[in-house]
Amino acid sequence: MRRPIIAGNWKMHKTIVEAIDLVNRLKRELYALTDLDIVVCPPFTSLSDLDEILEGSNLALGAQDIYWETSGAYTGEVSAAMLKDAGCEYVICGHSERRNLFFETSEQVNKKARTALAHGLSPIVCVGENLKQREEGRTFEVVREQLIESLKDLTEVEMLKVVLAYEPVWAIGTGKTATPQQAQEAQSFIRNKLSELYNEGLAQSIRIQYGGSVRPDNIADLMSQEDMDGALVGGASLDAGSFIEIVKRAGGR
Ligand code: PGA
Repeated sequence: MRRPIIAGNWKMHKTIVEAIDLVNRLKRELYALTDLDIVVCPPFTSLSDLDEILEGSNLALGAQDIYWETSGAYTGEVSAAMLKDAGCEYVICGHSERRNLFFETSEQVNKKARTALAHGLSPIVCVGENLKQREEGRTFEVVREQLIESLKDLTEVEMLKVVLAYEPVWAIGTGKTATPQQAQEAQSFIRNKLSELYNEGLAQSIRIQYGGSVRPDNIADLMSQEDMDGALVGGASLDAGSFIEIVKRAGGR
């Protein structure tokens, strides 16, 4: 049985004071939910404050990005050791906004995931097609390529710490959620691919999230799908009430 995992990707939202307020509410209302992993991914600036608040709670901290070098003249970048120091257990790698707006390639995503793993962080590796690619019938081809390149050279042991997120770009921030069937189809494809790249046992243990306009009213249907192990939630994670509801409904499957 795979343990569900719901992560909130706050993107570039929330000052430190706002982040503390949100996390205090989540902590108060979600403390009893121990049958799934709950992760919040705030901007870098709030990480260490939130780490103090989350100490000993059932909520884990994740970062939204990482750089592969250990230290040096890389203005604006943040290393794995810095993320560990700030209390992170997870880090999102290759979110479509990083791939599209900041031209991140799967090769770079691979370096980020490998660096995260080398420092004991669990990478949440994102893959997904855009609208044009879906309309051209290239969804599986795109997902396959991103998957192979982003996971290149990861060992079986490392893979057990990886979380995958299927995030169709056309569903992110658009209010246009993939249907549970569309999500299942892509996630089952990903699991089959993992079975080919590694083995069936490993493929069955890896958690695959869905991301793209997840809300309280669609999480239960999404979670009912066989290969659905959780969600990466953007917009709806910024509001305590809706994130709490999503987590509760996901836990109840
Ligand atoms: P959204 O974002 O929930 O706002 O669509 C999801 C994501 O980008 O991970």
